[in-house]
Amino acid sequence: MKGVVLAGGLGTRLRPLTAVTNKHLLPVYDRPMIYYPIQTLVNAGIIDIMIVTGGNSAGDFLKLLGNGKAFGLKHLNYTYQEGEGGIAEALSLVEHFAAKEPVCVVLGDNIIEGNITVAVRSYRHQGGGAKIILKKVPDPHRFGVPELDGPKVLRIEEKPESPKSEYAVIGIYMYDGDVYDIIRTLEPSGRGELEITDVNNAYIKRDDMSWEELEGWWTDAGTFESLLRASNLVAETGANKIELKHAAEISANV
Ligand code: DAU
Repeated sequence: MKGVVLAGGLGTRLRPLTAVTNKHLLPVYDRPMIYYPIQTLVNAGIIDIMIVTGGNSAGDFLKLLGNGKAFGLKHLNYTYQEGEGGIAEALSLVEHFAAKEPVCVVLGDNIIEGNITVAVRSYRHQGGGAKIILKKVPDPHRFGVPELDGPKVLRIEEKPESPKSEYAVIGIYMYDGDVYDIIRTLEPSGRGELEITDVNNAYIKRDDMSWEELEGWWTDAGTFESLLRASNLVAETGANKIELKHAAEISANV
């Protein structure tokens, strides 16, 4: 499985912090934001990674991350998204890199306390389709929200006024090689973007979507409130912890 970190977009909700630099280079406690999603992939044994950047300071990612030495990697791949056409548009740029292999996609502003090894392992056994990861939150209307029927996801609504569950769809997704054909069928949403929620609804329609609940805290960091919360959570409890019982297995998978 290949890994993708989406770090494009203009970060308009964080202006003026993002007026001259990229949102994902801003500090979250003691590290640049982009460190956390990369570590999430590496901790799950996913080491063939592409970073999609865009907007301001794209060259600074190369300066900061190089070939990924800080994460024990030998190589990192980069590509550039022009404009802010949405998460699904950013994902479409990795088609060539993925070369029909499944991908685990992590949004560049998503930070987790624990790890996703259990979800990645269960997706590998699923043998295709898609998987999303859910977390109960006090403010689901800020996110993609699923309507659930036990193990089945019936539908996902993007930032609904009346959420159909207490869950947020967090920004970690797993897709098979069909995802690019699905993205080609999408129309821009009201906010002018190709929405990842539309991609997920397409997999739900095919009856090819599973979900997993994340253990430990999760936050995005794309608003002043959530950026502060992310820094406080990392300072208080740390992020991207690997359970030691998994560590041997992770390195075996690598
Ligand atoms: O954080 C989880 C949420 O992320 C999900 O629950 C929502 O369903 C999903 O749509 C998304 O919501 P946001 O509106 O918060 O996404 P945002 O526009 O902040 O983008 C999140 C990351 O995606 C951003 O840090 C970088 C990447 N991105 C975004 C856009 C719009 C790109 O790489 N390119 C883009 O054009």
